[in-house]
Amino acid sequence: METVEQIDFTRCPVGDLKPMHPEALSNPAALNRRLREDQPVFEDPESGIFFISRYADVVAMLRDHETFSSVIGNKSTRAIHSAEPEVKAIMAEGYPSVPTMLTQDPPLQRRYRKFVDGAFSSRNLRSIEPFIEATSRQLIQDFVDRGACEFMSEFGVKLPLKVIGSQIGVPMEDLPKLRKWTKSFVDNLGMQLDLEGMCKVATSVVEFQHYFVKKLEERRKNPTDDILSKIVNASIDGEQPLDNSECLSMLSQILVAGNETTASALTEGMWLLIDNPDQCDLIYRDPSPEMRSRFVEEVLRFSSPSANSFRRTTREVVLHGKVIPEGKVCFARFASANHDESHFNDAMSFDILRDNLKEHIAFGKGIHHCLGAALARREMNIGFDQIFKRMKNFRLADGVKAPEFAPNALLHGPTSLHLEFDAIH
Ligand code: HEM
Repeated sequence: METVEQIDFTRCPVGDLKPMHPEALSNPAALNRRLREDQPVFEDPESGIFFISRYADVVAMLRDHETFSSVIGNKSTRAIHSAEPEVKAIMAEGYPSVPTMLTQDPPLQRRYRKFVDGAFSSRNLRSIEPFIEATSRQLIQDFVDRGACEFMSEFGVKLPLKVIGSQIGVPMEDLPKLRKWTKSFVDNLGMQLDLEGMCKVATSVVEFQHYFVKKLEERRKNPTDDILSKIVNASIDGEQPLDNSECLSMLSQILVAGNETTASALTEGMWLLIDNPDQCDLIYRDPSPEMRSRFVEEVLRFSSPSANSFRRTTREVVLHGKVIPEGKVCFARFASANHDESHFNDAMSFDILRDNLKEHIAFGKGIHHCLGAALARREMNIGFDQIFKRMKNFRLADGVKAPEFAPNALLHGPTSLHLEFDAIH
């Protein structure tokens, strides 16, 4: 397989661009620039997917949910919809996958969101702020005296996992299982698995399903105020309550979307502080909530952990002279849009003072705008507040190079970040 040195996306002929190549998925910036400049609508001959890369086009696409449907069916992922008999046999032990929020169109998409919107409302979020703060403080306490940590596993992954676990209603001792299942769902989305990998993912998904069906049954009998109870007992305007498959689909979306993306944003945020010492100085010189919030928004724009999302055309579309036939899968390139020089001046610079940093679309746009955006922002603002109070002078650990990024078709995030710092006592 070619390495990053072998593929020079700035030079190869446009027709040879390979957006689904693992190297392009791990390090997409140069490829994205090529696509934005030369092929804003690019049909990948290998996957058959149309890649839409400019800011204005991605926003227009997300706003037009009638033309760009989110119901993709078995075209969206490889593993759990695989036709391989081994995978099908494992999946037969579980529950069928059904489209709900992210994978559904209105009116059903709105119906499913209604059940959980309240759990992520401002009022509810205010009540969990003390938990986010206490958890952040405790996680930092566990490593601060070492002056070093592997940030992804010791903070980035743990903070959102503990928060979402407590909100869903999963006991703390089961969080390692939740982490394992989340990772499997992420691998499932990645479109990079061989048969063995798909079987592993399928086994893990079925395990997740049985664990949560048991929990759902418990909440049907004895409801509490957690998200599990809200989902399983929700019946708005006398509608039928959700069945197990619907509940499982919603839970898996909340888990994947809630954990992996936030962990990536927190970790890449730390790397951006190391890589941009001038920006780090700005924050330590002005530790106000406004400056912190600017930092968080610029981290979201720059890192765009939810790098791509699927849509399917419901009619023929002509864009920049290119015909996208009806029924084709398209990728809305959030990460590329957020690096579009025609919308963000000097877009590849990390600049917390930029004028329009709030115009990023890291949380999407339109009817599918992220359900957990306010929660993720609070986790990042509170988490970094605690970090800035206890740690300073961040640097990569001795002998460690810049972080590597996992190849995944939809999500983009660092695999680890070994760093050193000075503790603040
Ligand atoms: C930094 C963290 C996060 C990022 C970058 C992010 C990004 C996104 C994006 C781009 C979308 C729109 C996808 C599309 O249009 O196809 C989305 C939707 C969604 N997000 Fe997030 N997200 C984050 C955190 C969270 C959290 C904490 C939750 C937990 C509840 C969550 C739950 C969801 C759900 C359920 C949807 C689907 C909403 C719908 O289709 O109606 N996300 N997210």
